[in-house]
Amino acid sequence: MLVEHHVPLQALNTFHIVARAQRLVRIRSEEDVLAVLADPQLRQDSKFVLGGGSNLVITGDVEPLVLKSEIQGCRVVEQSAKSTVVEAGAGVDWHAFVAWTLDQGLPGLENMALIPGTVGAAPVQNIGAYGVELQDRFAALDAIDLETGRVFTLDAAQCGFGYRDSVFKHQGSERHMGLKGRAMILRVRFALPRAWKPVLGYADLEKKQAQTGIDNPSALQLFDWICEIRRAKLPDPAQIGNAGSFFKNPTVSAEQCADIIARDPKVVHYRLHDGSFKLAAGWLIDACGWRGKSIGQAGVYEKQALVLVNRGQGTGGATGGEVMTLAGAIQTSVYERFGLMLETEPVVL
Ligand code: EPU
Repeated sequence: MLVEHHVPLQALNTFHIVARAQRLVRIRSEEDVLAVLADPQLRQDSKFVLGGGSNLVITGDVEPLVLKSEIQGCRVVEQSAKSTVVEAGAGVDWHAFVAWTLDQGLPGLENMALIPGTVGAAPVQNIGAYGVELQDRFAALDAIDLETGRVFTLDAAQCGFGYRDSVFKHQGSERHMGLKGRAMILRVRFALPRAWKPVLGYADLEKKQAQTGIDNPSALQLFDWICEIRRAKLPDPAQIGNAGSFFKNPTVSAEQCADIIARDPKVVHYRLHDGSFKLAAGWLIDACGWRGKSIGQAGVYEKQALVLVNRGQGTGGATGGEVMTLAGAIQTSVYERFGLMLETEPVVL
């Protein structure tokens, strides 16, 4: 096991915020975690698990021991009449994994193509896009307890998935299971349906159907459409630092929604199964005039107000503090105009 010191993190977070990890260990197998736990000093230190750094705002040098997830490997685990179970190491790049499943002739993840980050980070916030969430395809995951070194398996119910949420985002309490800082995900398994049907219905996908005249796309066609839609709308982190959607879309009651529609008839809203409504946070932020605005080097993306971006590079770029100041100012504006407090999506470190 190698402990690296004063490691630059700029290339390890998609916001490209300049900061250092005081100590970092690359985890390539569960034995590497056991080696950390066998060290009398390291076993006691608080730890932070870093995947692709794509849902993260770093606000200063990182003191906890950083465990950089680099476990590789993709394989088909089993086939049943209903599904094919595939498994990937936590350090595998998510988009590369989606492409690998399609190369194997196993559709089911194509709506989540091009989401930045790693396979191990995907369950933490139950990633989702264009009508499919990770929990819809999830089978189980193996994780390791960072105190005891015990490896355990969780099914979907035990992961407590919600909208951009899971047990891995919460600290445990007497009443609720929480695994934040307690466990590191090693491998994730997905059940891909043998009877595959394209998941359509999103306006952007309907536009593609109309433009191409293809009503019933193949999984590869859908994969290409999703990549094109995302590239047109979302900044490529390799070019412009960002962490995807910065806020969650808020859920409101039917009464609250009616109230907002009465004042702002154009508000983008979707009815949920339970009768409540989801509002498009991007629209709310846009309506408050934030699209294209900046505070210091932290900005609101011109083509999608839900995405905050780093307008600079290197030491001239945005600090985590600037990003959070901008996020706070946006929350205040939206609260003052709509009476809603937007919840942030990324982990703030
Ligand atoms: N809108 C505006 N102005 C803006 C941004 C959006 O008016 O500046 C309107 C759009 O016109 C559209 C609506 O808001 O009518 C929704 O926008 P969009 O379709 O881009 O989706 P979203 O709700 O903003 C969510 C996810 C994305 C995911 C897309 C597609 C969240 C927080 N975000 O975005 O996920 O890719 O739907 O499914 O749920 C992510 O989590 O990082 C992410 C990118």
